[in-house]
Amino acid sequence: MTNRPYTIDRMISAKSIAARIEDLSHEIEAEFADTEKLIVVGLLRGSFVFIADIVRELDLPVEVDFLEASSYGDGTESSREVRIMKDLRGEIGGRDVLVVEDIVDTGFTLRHVLNLLASREPRKMRSIALLDKPSRREVDIRADWTGFEIPDEFVVGYGIDYAQRNRNLPFIGKVRFTDET
Ligand code: IMP
Ligand code: MG
Repeated sequence: MTNRPYTIDRMISAKSIAARIEDLSHEIEAEFADTEKLIVVGLLRGSFVFIADIVRELDLPVEVDFLEASSYGDGTESSREVRIMKDLRGEIGGRDVLVVEDIVDTGFTLRHVLNLLASREPRKMRSIALLDKPSRREVDIRADWTGFEIPDEFVVGYGIDYAQRNRNLPFIGKVRFTDET
């Protein structure tokens, strides 16, 4: 399945992403205006481009940490079983935390990560996802901020991969299999 031929159709431009991040970062700044320090937690690997852009827009004292959760294998379907492959380096108890995710799809990953981090009792925790596919949701969870709602399409680019490829595209595109009839 992973070596099926495909092309990528443009969906969200780099320019639209940048404009949306600028708007969202103002809302995040307002929400955390009183923070001593905001710990921005990127979920590896898909959020690495998004988190880099967000932190550079945030006019707040920020620390960056990463967590890797895996739910997808190399295909396009969620396995529903979320595993923590790499935990945070720092403590978040009593701190302000922003969790940064690339896509909320079935919702299993974000729910698992938010429950795990909430158990460490941060002072305040919020979440942001660049993309949301509401029609795919299987568990009742949503990020506090969403960049773009998208239909049920498999997307790549801007950090997001298909079988580890296409993360370096500067825009979001949808995968179209060319052997489909
Ligand atoms: P969920 O647990 O089903 O919500 O899956 C969330 C994770 O699946 C995201 O963090 C992505 O890594 C991955 N994912 C979901 N949809 C896509 C997609 O369209 N392209 C690439 N990865 C995706
Ligand atoms: Mg992910």
